[in-house]
Amino acid sequence: MIYWQKNPFPHTGNTLVLFTDEHTYKKDPRLQQLNTLVKGKITRKIKDHHFEGKKDESFVAEGGGIYEYIIVYGVGESLRNAIANVNAIARALKSTSLHLFHSPFMGKDFFEIGKQVALGFNLSNYSFDVYKGKEDLEKRHLVKDLYFYSVLELPKEFGEGVEWGQVLSEGISLTRNMVNEPASHMHPETMVAQAFAIEKASKGSVSVQVLDRDECQRLGMGSFLGVAQGSEREPKFIVLKYEGRKSKVEDGTLKVENRKSKKICLVGKSITFDSGGLSLKPAKSMETMKIDMAGGAAVLGIIDILARTGQVIHEVWGVLPACENMVSGKSLRPGDIVTALNGKTIEVLNTDAEGRLALADAVAYAEKYIKPDYIIDLATLTGACMVALGEDITGIFGNDEDSVKKFIEKAKKEGEEICELPLYKPYLTFLKSDIADLKNIGGTGYGGAISGALFIGEFVKKTKWIHLDIAGPAYNSGAVKGVIGKGGTGWGILTIMSLLT
Ligand code: BES
Ligand code: ZN
Ligand code: ZN
Repeated sequence: MIYWQKNPFPHTGNTLVLFTDEHTYKKDPRLQQLNTLVKGKITRKIKDHHFEGKKDESFVAEGGGIYEYIIVYGVGESLRNAIANVNAIARALKSTSLHLFHSPFMGKDFFEIGKQVALGFNLSNYSFDVYKGKEDLEKRHLVKDLYFYSVLELPKEFGEGVEWGQVLSEGISLTRNMVNEPASHMHPETMVAQAFAIEKASKGSVSVQVLDRDECQRLGMGSFLGVAQGSEREPKFIVLKYEGRKSKVEDGTLKVENRKSKKICLVGKSITFDSGGLSLKPAKSMETMKIDMAGGAAVLGIIDILARTGQVIHEVWGVLPACENMVSGKSLRPGDIVTALNGKTIEVLNTDAEGRLALADAVAYAEKYIKPDYIIDLATLTGACMVALGEDITGIFGNDEDSVKKFIEKAKKEGEEICELPLYKPYLTFLKSDIADLKNIGGTGYGGAISGALFIGEFVKKTKWIHLDIAGPAYNSGAVKGVIGKGGTGWGILTIMSLLT
């Protein structure tokens, strides 16, 4: 739980967190006050640890009778990561509660501070425990409570920020859970069930429609169905619609919102397992391919958040072409030709480039039947994007300069790493097929993230469109980095929510 109240420094409790930075730690009156309290031990620790208040520098001191422990921590640019890291230190100390004070360097945007505190605490408490035994679970210690204090009365915006941060954390955790579930437990039908669960809990703001194989066939989605045809499991084309409130109640009277609302369609790659198909992946590359539905999981996380706040005025759609990419006698063969919803024929030279096949029909469907102002797709699309940008950074492409610029600005503000890559038209020639309209790989061995994006772009005629290649940042296989633990990350939710609000 997160609590906040007005209190004089240093108050009492289990673990006091003193955030500082390299500019202020030397003359920080609070540090000096604590130093007196613990009889000079802080000064000694500062010397022993060569502490300079720099980003992520920290030490732990005894609490001088009023606290059990004092954690002194140097905050960089991210308050939420600082809180996440302090939470990890406190977990190792077996702390029961964290107590931190508002500091001048946090600024005065109390909504934002509250939001970051909640995100930092909740997301760093996340772990995927579903398949862990009792023994492991009992050993796991979590810090139960976080207290945020201020010597002055905290404005109501702080509480609103905390509340918003909680809602965001829940949506992100939902996405992380879905990504972390193995393909033995996460099927197209499971994604359908999740969509319906969101609809049910939404009390009318979300409606879900699911197209089965026959309906997809009738609409001409041969490209998506081609990916699905090798699997024993039925494909599901999931469409969600969130309708923003057109009016709100203020002072007991109903007010019609006069801000103009937009229609935005979020498309999420939802391959619940990517074996590569007959263009089979090597064993090592297949190990993490349960994550190939991370785009769809992020879209569900976002719709879940929208449903629970009900405040966003825009009409937001989610489109999830969900299926498995598997090997069988029914699988698509390299060289096969499929016909997409927009009538274009595609020579499938590599069945492992399946994401773009599923997304081709999904974006074409969105444009034809939903007619949104914007399409944003999230897809674990290419290993090439990871080669280009590494595991932390999303590649963003788009056909509208302003939209891309705006997205990048928001992402930077939300602390989600991103870098623009070009939709370089001359490379389209590599996607021309001798016997069909397109082939699904460039085949040069270079610029694979660009070919993937260009391919999807061939199925968007006139709508403003952003493509996010999240192959790297959707999943963290390395060490814990602030609020990003091991496993699914929920990349993109914060930025897209910030755009929608
Ligand atoms: N799902 C993969 C991309 C991927 C790789 C996601 C690693 C996350 C981590 C995608 O379907 C794929 O296999 N892409 C191929 C494309 C190639 C055949 C043109 C790739 O990146 O190798
Ligand atoms: Zn693939
Ligand atoms: Zn894939």
